[in-house]
Amino acid sequence: MTLPKVTVVGAGQVGATTAFLLLNKGIADVVMVDVAEGLPQGKALDMMHSRSVERFAPVVTGTNDYADTAGSDVVVVTAGLPRKPGMTRDDLLAANGAIVRSVIGAAVEASPDAIVICVTNPLDVMTYLAWRVSGLPAERIFGMGGVLDSARFAYAIAEETGAGIDTITALAVGAHGDAMVPLPRHSTVAGTPLTELLTPERIGALVKRTIFGGAEVVALLKTGSAFYAPAASVTAMVEAVLGDTGAVLPSCVHLDGEYGISGVYMSIPASLGRQGVRGVVEIDLDDVELAALQASADTVAEAVSALGL
Ligand code: APR
Repeated sequence: MTLPKVTVVGAGQVGATTAFLLLNKGIADVVMVDVAEGLPQGKALDMMHSRSVERFAPVVTGTNDYADTAGSDVVVVTAGLPRKPGMTRDDLLAANGAIVRSVIGAAVEASPDAIVICVTNPLDVMTYLAWRVSGLPAERIFGMGGVLDSARFAYAIAEETGAGIDTITALAVGAHGDAMVPLPRHSTVAGTPLTELLTPERIGALVKRTIFGGAEVVALLKTGSAFYAPAASVTAMVEAVLGDTGAVLPSCVHLDGEYGISGVYMSIPASLGRQGVRGVVEIDLDDVELAALQASADTVAEAVSALGL
């Protein structure tokens, strides 16, 4: 049986972890491509050495040449610099903008029919940039932000309540950064909204922990930024695409009037399938939530305008 082909651009922490998760799920052959010579090849070989232990069917290869990525079904873009302690995601804008510009052209030329998922930060701006540079229709190119932010919210809720992680649904939308909008009213423990379970003060603390979850990891690691949860999050999105499941995942998608917002990419629930974004799911937001989402969009629009596209 021929497996789908997924290219992971950037064989660093996030990229290699994503590749390893995809292999172990058995859902795609993987190609890792990176500028660093030997890095993708070495990591691919290391993963292949685990094949007889893990018993996965797919194969992974490492390369510095986009010709080897040709005909991919999905391209995951993780190339870029990670955050350093004290750095905001926006500090990364200039450096990673140049990297994203260079890799998107090469990756899309090799795989013109691929679905492209961006992970490089600052996520919402890089996804917008990638869309513009790629020339792809917006439904074929989107980003991983909301899945991770929602997962961090779920973790914070589980820690606070002691409830099993399986009983929790959590939703965070908006920009993947300080202007993120975790939604307590749309987050539940065994079906009960957080707003009916906890005081506003406790909810405020969980929201803050969610927004600064990435920074908390960065501060502990001292070097590099989070990669296990980001890799798990983008792997879930790849699974939805390859399986054509229609799963509704908070994804960094192009907004075209939804929630009164246009012309930016940021995370909202969207249904994902083999053609990319099947559709945006509009959830009911009260005035305060809507204002927060619109303020979040404004921060993304401001950062995008700094790109001078
Ligand atoms: N083409 C291909 N790969 C590149 C390029 C390029 N032009 N520039 C850099 N890279 C590669 C690096 O060689 C490195 O292997 O991208 C990889 C990045 O890996 P890490 O430094 O380990 O960073 P990582 O933690 O994986 O984060 C990557 O994802 O979550 C975001 O904020 C994070 O923007 C960062 C990205």
